[in-house]
Amino acid sequence: MPHRPYVIDELISAKAIAARIEHLAREISQVFEDTDKLVVVGLLRGSFVFIADLVRELKLPVEVDFLEASSYGNAMESSREVRIFKDLRGTIEGRDVLVVEDIIDTGHTLAHVNDYLKTKHPARMKTIALLDKPARREVDFKADWIGFEIPDEFVVGYGIDFAQRDRNLPHIGKVRFTDDAK
Ligand code: PRP
Repeated sequence: MPHRPYVIDELISAKAIAARIEHLAREISQVFEDTDKLVVVGLLRGSFVFIADLVRELKLPVEVDFLEASSYGNAMESSREVRIFKDLRGTIEGRDVLVVEDIIDTGHTLAHVNDYLKTKHPARMKTIALLDKPARREVDFKADWIGFEIPDEFVVGYGIDFAQRDRNLPHIGKVRFTDDAK
């Protein structure tokens, strides 16, 4: 499929991401220091790079699981519907859970997933997102940990895509279109 030409300007370097993850992992390891085993739940697909780096910094016994959700705009009701495409493999009932997301935009995905996972009765559940775009928020949702707050820019890399491209960039970049229209 043809796409508008664009270049990617670096917004957050791989080094800055690594340093921030080290710091966050230390905090998370303290909060859950008494856990038997933390279930780290990655939201596919965007979180796959973040979760891989994050779990390697956690000084805790961990188990990794994944969930896939997607949100759809509903123009008629100007609302968004979030659907779960792939559920967890394991059980989280009575267990400690950390939900890992790449970016919070409108907030619908994480708010819905959080509500959904609560119905499975975890013991303690916390959420972390690498990026947060507060300017775009439509539902009131606050993650327990945020890597970086960013302006309302079109970002890619470190797991985040633009039409399924650029997930493999080691840093976070912002898309700048090089044709006339903004
Ligand atoms: C993106 C991103 C978050 C969600 C955030 O996922 O990875 O999951 O949107 O948006 P929201 O806060 O407005 O709900 P996407 O549905 O593009 O899927 P992907 O993770 O597979 O790229």
